[in-house]
Amino acid sequence: MSGAFQAPRGTYDVLPEQAAARERLERTARRLLEGAGYRRIETPAFEATELFARGVGESTDIVQKEMYTFEDAGGRSLTLRPEGTAPVCRAYLEHGMHKLPQPVKLWYLSSFFRYERAQAGRYRQFWQIGVEAIGSDDPAVDAEAIVLLQALLQELGVRGVRLRLSSLGSPETRAAYRERLQAHLHANAGELAREVRERIDLNPLRAFDSDHAGTQAVMVRAPRLLDELSPDDAEHFEAVCALLDAAGIPYEIDPTLVRGLDYYTRTVFEFTSDALGAQSGVGGGGRYDGLMEQLGGPPTPGTGWAAGIERMLLAADSTPVPQPVVDLYVAREDGGRDDASAAFALAAQARRAGLNVQLELAGRSLKGQLKQAGRLGARFVAIVGGQEGTRLRDMESGDQESVDGADAAVARVLRGRHPA
Ligand code: HAM
Repeated sequence: MSGAFQAPRGTYDVLPEQAAARERLERTARRLLEGAGYRRIETPAFEATELFARGVGESTDIVQKEMYTFEDAGGRSLTLRPEGTAPVCRAYLEHGMHKLPQPVKLWYLSSFFRYERAQAGRYRQFWQIGVEAIGSDDPAVDAEAIVLLQALLQELGVRGVRLRLSSLGSPETRAAYRERLQAHLHANAGELAREVRERIDLNPLRAFDSDHAGTQAVMVRAPRLLDELSPDDAEHFEAVCALLDAAGIPYEIDPTLVRGLDYYTRTVFEFTSDALGAQSGVGGGGRYDGLMEQLGGPPTPGTGWAAGIERMLLAADSTPVPQPVVDLYVAREDGGRDDASAAFALAAQARRAGLNVQLELAGRSLKGQLKQAGRLGARFVAIVGGQEGTRLRDMESGDQESVDGADAAVARVLRGRHPA
């Protein structure tokens, strides 16, 4: 062990200078989502491992190699949540939310954990804003969720946004299609990348994701699920597209769109930003009409999305967030104890009056204190102690006046305060 500790690989600290932009993002999301009737939900940071094995799917990369799974002292297998949909569905079932008016519209802002190769825009602890609308299979629920994510990205100034859209149909159509795709892959196995070949039986759809040239050539000739949808599923997909058209949202239909989670049925979509490098996905989601049953509940349709906070911030225009105005800096004439309590009392009174106040805390000389107040952009400095009692310095004009007690000082600052 050498040197001081560092944050674990793939994790990061949110430093004060970054916190303001995050808070702005969170405020924007809350306003948009709650305005559309979504209500906040938060679930625990860890769940029974089985929830993700069954919900996200045994064959996915997430479950196979990316979960932080551990056994607790009671011998239970637990997993730090790698995503939010399965936990929210678990909560819907556990709390009998089917009794509420449907769909139940929920949103969350939480951190998630995946053991992924760490790089820019890809972390092992990352944050998502997500929504889940549970209890309706109406295509308008999908379209509304997509429109909201588009609006969020637009308001945040995320650059070069594209929306890709597809439908995976029902589990039955998908099962029949899966067999046809497997047959196509087996027939062309010699041209495929080794990892694709090894996963033909486990997860043939992932072959569409491969960046291996031979595999890509095979996939160009592969059957397309979108061409094989049942009439109901095709109608559902057309309705989603028509609603997006009506809302004026541009999208590209991409039959090769595969998502890394197994629960999707019908609508799937992904927003990318060309301001991001290899990790271009800013947010994605889709419909999961079979997930509740997978988790032991009654058949209940659902749809939703999640967007990565780090990726949205990386891809957004970064206008600096202004620091809060300092109305008053309370300085001390000399560092005596009496001055300290008078300064403290004045600061407390000014804060109760609603002013933003900072207090000298580092034992600087008076000159040093005025310099510090200047650095902070303080509007007034109160100099407590000294012969003439408290003096108030207007940092804009440089004028200095004596004030008679804390009440008078606070009243004077309130009058001269910067407009908010
Ligand atoms: P996902 O596509 O796995 O979907 O993740 C959604 C978003 O989370 C991604 O588009 C990306 O912005 C961000 N993200 C994922 N992994 C990382 C990582 N390692 N580092 C940084 N950001 C990351 C889901 O999680 C589904 N639960 C979405 C959903 C909700 N589908 C239906 N409802």
